[in-house]
Amino acid sequence: MPIKLDHVFLKTSPTSQISLSFSFSMETKGKLFALLLLLSLVAVSTGHGEKQNARLFVIGDSFVDTGNMGNRTSDGLMLTDYIASFLHRRTPVIYAQRKKASKSELEDGMNFARGGSGVLDVSFNNYSMTLQVGNFKEQIAQNVYTKVDLENSIALVSYTGNDYLYKTTRQKGTMKDVFDQTKTIVDLLTKNLREIRGLGVKKIAIFGTPPRGCFPGMYSETLRKCDRTWNKASRQHNKLLKESLKILNKERHGSKFVYLDLYNAIDSALFDKIKEIVGFANRFKACCLDAHMCGPIAQKKCKNPELSIFWDAGHLSQNGANIVYTYLVPSLSQLL
Ligand SMILES: *[C@@H]1O[C@H](CO)[C@@H](O)[C@H](O)[C@H]1NC(C)=O
Ligand SMILES: *[C@@H]1O[C@H](CO)[C@@H](O)[C@H](O)[C@H]1NC(C)=O
Repeated sequence: MPIKLDHVFLKTSPTSQISLSFSFSMETKGKLFALLLLLSLVAVSTGHGEKQNARLFVIGDSFVDTGNMGNRTSDGLMLTDYIASFLHRRTPVIYAQRKKASKSELEDGMNFARGGSGVLDVSFNNYSMTLQVGNFKEQIAQNVYTKVDLENSIALVSYTGNDYLYKTTRQKGTMKDVFDQTKTIVDLLTKNLREIRGLGVKKIAIFGTPPRGCFPGMYSETLRKCDRTWNKASRQHNKLLKESLKILNKERHGSKFVYLDLYNAIDSALFDKIKEIVGFANRFKACCLDAHMCGPIAQKKCKNPELSIFWDAGHLSQNGANIVYTYLVPSLSQLL
């Protein structure tokens, strides 16, 4: 009988535990039991088991969506995997597969994020962050998660700017429209953060928007320059967001908001002088050559994905995610 074992911890480096999914075919229950025993010994010996209750809930867009919209936009691991592993959790179950999840898997938390989501009602997928928070509330109403569970939980919120991209592409807006929209967007984002806090989550981490102007397609290969206007728009969003977080953190509701500086994390990955030696030019290129947005099973990918930063026009490759994650570790430590 084939038995599927999801999310097995693999020790890949001294500082991080990576969880991967794969299947085993086992003949007897005895063998399975022996394997589970072995895995639990590994878990104990590496210090897991201490943070049993800290569930991770993920809300946002494709930067953290590990499958709700059908695909991971990466050649492998994403920031969600690295951050979950940093928090000693397995990658949380995706909302789309909650009904198939075991009780133990649900204990890791849940990922509500969807590729294409923004905070406005109309976006690439018309599935706003508010609807995702609604999905979260529904899980609480159904007692999948209790008040005590939530008090021990961490929320990771990813807003990397889909509303702005939707404005300039589908709605043919200008960059002025993007700048004009920033305050509305950050206000809506803040409203969602308050809602998440209202559910009883005590620690909430949120990404700043990335240097969009340096992403493949926006970066000018001929001029070897990032699009400065897009980067400025990202920085303006981040400035307002940080002001907003300052206010949220003063509102003594016992919840902590942590800013995750995606902008400088990616910026330093792209411009780090030491790493320049290795394939500098390729860093601004998408590794997946199949499409503008790629799934993990791309037919045509770059020669050395392990040197890339970007997987496709809008997303980090596994290597990129790993570098960015490393940059974010000091901030992530505030969640422990
Ligand atoms: C989202 O809603 C808008 C406005 O109702 C509609 O024009 C658009 O086709 C919708 N997009 C999707 C992906 O459903
Ligand atoms: C997943 O990605 C593959 C390859 O990029 C693509 O062909 C497929 O349509 C995607 N599936 C979904 C559900 O988006």
